[in-house]
Amino acid sequence: MSKQIVHILAFESSCDDTSVAVLRGSSGGEVPEVLSVAVQSQDEVHQKFGGVVPELASRAHLKNLIPCTRKVLHESGLGFSDIDLFAATHRPGLVGCLLIGHSGAKALSFLFDRPLVSCHHIHSHLQSIFLEHSPTFPFLTAVVSGGHTSLYVVRSFDDFEEVGVTLDDALGEAFDKGAKLLGLGFPGGPELDRLAQSGDSGRYRFGRVKVAGLDFSFSGLKSELQRLFQREGEALDRADVAASYQSALLDHLLQRVELALTQFGLREVAIVGGVARNSELRKRLASLMESGSLRAWYAPSPQFCTDNAAMVGVSAFRKWKRKEFSSLFEDVGSTRRPARGSRG
Ligand code: KG4
Ligand code: ZN
Repeated sequence: MSKQIVHILAFESSCDDTSVAVLRGSSGGEVPEVLSVAVQSQDEVHQKFGGVVPELASRAHLKNLIPCTRKVLHESGLGFSDIDLFAATHRPGLVGCLLIGHSGAKALSFLFDRPLVSCHHIHSHLQSIFLEHSPTFPFLTAVVSGGHTSLYVVRSFDDFEEVGVTLDDALGEAFDKGAKLLGLGFPGGPELDRLAQSGDSGRYRFGRVKVAGLDFSFSGLKSELQRLFQREGEALDRADVAASYQSALLDHLLQRVELALTQFGLREVAIVGGVARNSELRKRLASLMESGSLRAWYAPSPQFCTDNAAMVGVSAFRKWKRKEFSSLFEDVGSTRRPARGSRG
């Protein structure tokens, strides 16, 4: 049987990044190739509020979606009629934001009579690792973003089981809240990362998180940071605080990662999502590998860590291979979590 080629137009609009990508896959392949990707950040829109304002985010998606689409079609040398599959994130996320990208994909699917695929944002992050890497199955993945923190055992491209999840804040949220206390700009994670590079991580001590098993809890560390500011205020060395706080957050993450590796007999780890850009996290994984605790670790390149439509395209391609198409009546969802052990 001859191989079938599929051109995918994918939209991501679940939070505050508008992104569109064009990908090309073959029925004989496991992962599609990215032909073009555009990401329009909304940092300028939300900066003065110190956080994402949902109503403004939806309006910005509406403004950015068409220019981003024009750009990727132009760069890939394709027109709408060349697209075989329209895809968009449909959950979880901010409903008004999800509606913009998903309704756009629905409208194009209807107009050009091509199938629609709806993608789960966390599964897209998880599958983003396949854009550039080929870890050996089974391996462990830590999804560490602004809205989600989970550990998954990944058994194949489409088969993954959630084995740990945060019980309160996501890791990116803990970074952002810490950055706000330190008076850093928005989004705070990258700024805290930068400031921590010149600080002493052993200067301030944070307690050990007391949550059993593979689940996470980051909110206690944030409260400790708040108390530290109340106690010592202006006398604090901001760079040392940033380094110590970051170190406590990463200790908690990596303690769970090492526990999961032992528990499931795994030797390889992938980190995905916005916090996978963190320089200290990457250094720590590299030293775990040097010490022999890990056979290999993987992270997407920075542009594919934070929200992007290329990862949605990978997820859509896997669904296309499984013929898992969506109806034009499919709704978007807000924060409903995937069931443990769900498929991509
Ligand atoms: O994956 P993402 O773009 O959006 C969600 O799905 O949430 O992740 C955004 C999060 C933000 O919390 C941001 O502060 C964090 O990723 N982030 C970082 C770094 N770069 C982005 N956190 C720590 N260090 C970084 N270098
Ligand atoms: Zn995300």
